[in-house]
Amino acid sequence: PLHRSLAALAAAHGPVLLLRFGSRRVVHVAHPAAAEECLTTHDATFANRPQLPSARHLSNGYTTLGSSSYGPNWRNLRRIATVDVFSTHRLLRSTGIRAGEVRHMARRLFKDAAGADASRPASADVKTRAFELALNTVARMIAGKRYYGDDEDDSGPSSVEAERFRAMVREYFAMHGASNLQDFVPVLALVDIGGVNNRAIRLSKARNEWAQRLIDEHRAAAAAGREQGKTMVGDLLEMQASDPEAYSDKVIRALCLSILQTGTDTSSGTIEWAMALLLNHPAAMAKARAEIDEVVGTVRILEESDLPNLPYLQFVVRETLRLHPIAPMLAPHESSADCSVAGYDIPAGTMLLFNVHTMHLDARVWGEDAERFSPERFEGGKSEGKWMLPFGMGRRQCPGEGLAMRVVSLALGTFVQCFEWRRVGDEEVDMTEGSGLTVPKAVPLEALYWPRPKMVLALREILER
Ligand code: HEM
Repeated sequence: PLHRSLAALAAAHGPVLLLRFGSRRVVHVAHPAAAEECLTTHDATFANRPQLPSARHLSNGYTTLGSSSYGPNWRNLRRIATVDVFSTHRLLRSTGIRAGEVRHMARRLFKDAAGADASRPASADVKTRAFELALNTVARMIAGKRYYGDDEDDSGPSSVEAERFRAMVREYFAMHGASNLQDFVPVLALVDIGGVNNRAIRLSKARNEWAQRLIDEHRAAAAAGREQGKTMVGDLLEMQASDPEAYSDKVIRALCLSILQTGTDTSSGTIEWAMALLLNHPAAMAKARAEIDEVVGTVRILEESDLPNLPYLQFVVRETLRLHPIAPMLAPHESSADCSVAGYDIPAGTMLLFNVHTMHLDARVWGEDAERFSPERFEGGKSEGKWMLPFGMGRRQCPGEGLAMRVVSLALGTFVQCFEWRRVGDEEVDMTEGSGLTVPKAVPLEALYWPRPKMVLALREILER
């Protein structure tokens, strides 16, 4: 994986390196003090994003929140995201959606494990369950729709619409994972190897049509006085009435697409890494479960409001984000002006990669056992103030952190509370990392499981609901 190769280069040549990726100048930063200097003193200078040709179509010409450079468009999107989508107030309002989706996942696992027990465990495709959970959660927050799983709810999308959406998502992640030489050897962009550009144009059209359909449906329902439930699209359309320019359809579409693409494989990948770590560390799994049993009991399934009382569960999540930050080099930044970092001159237009993964494993900060999974290192505030940036820092810091922490902790807690888990074989779960700017497990996680006898009543209750 790129972050590992670059870490090896940094170990040999120094923590601030100027590299060339084909025609692009890239600075690789692997030292906490230098990274902090970039993201505090020079935060505004490094707040641009590089315009990578492979992302042009799928980012609507670099106009989505994650792809847009620092400027009026980004500031408007970021303000709306912070105030109207991810504020504590808005997140509290969508608590029911997250609880509903996590229960939906638990119900699915419970159904699939009918008759299973320790001697005849069922098999879970953890990656798929986590992905569907994350995607259903953001889709319901954006649009009020669940696109994956059995849906007894009449208000859900038709099966044709759901399949069209799923095809769009599959295509996006297939293209997203592909390596993109044209980003670094511009002449290749002229040839369109494998028809990648044409695929991206088609996909971009489908995505914009999906987002516009949501807007049109919400508008039509509001005009007809039909109750819709609170959704992000509905909220933003209400704002549009008083400020049509800041909340134009184009802005709403950009937000729908930004959140759909940044809010799914990030949370689900983290849930998958956390479960893999717990399967390899049964003592930590037992400790997390004992804590949940003590605080929540076994009569009901845990809720978001329990999370502040489950510190060990939160340490497991933090330790997962330290060892396996899903974006190990954040997202690429780019400098808008000449500046100097750690005594080196960095010209304008340089792409910046912050290797947070390497910094999370720095023995000078985390001790000799920095590579070991140990949620205990956070107990009693022992790691307070230690350098860890899985969500980035400064202007470009992830705006979805609060949502992600809730979804990941709730899903993980529910897995641990409701089911017994075992590895598929005797050997440890393969922890090989995939490659790319977001790093999933190379081998999708599968695990054996069965319902905990103590939780069967609570699980039956959600089955009957
Ligand atoms: C465990 C889960 C997640 C992790 C580890 C994560 C991490 C990150 C990181 C490292 C960045 C780039 C920061 C930088 O460039 O310096 C980022 C950006 C972003 N994230 Fe997240 N993220 C997660 C979940 C989410 C969720 C659930 C959402 C929304 C539903 C979200 C929305 C965004 C957006 C919109 C950006 C772009 C912000 C900008 O460029 O201004 N993320 N995230």
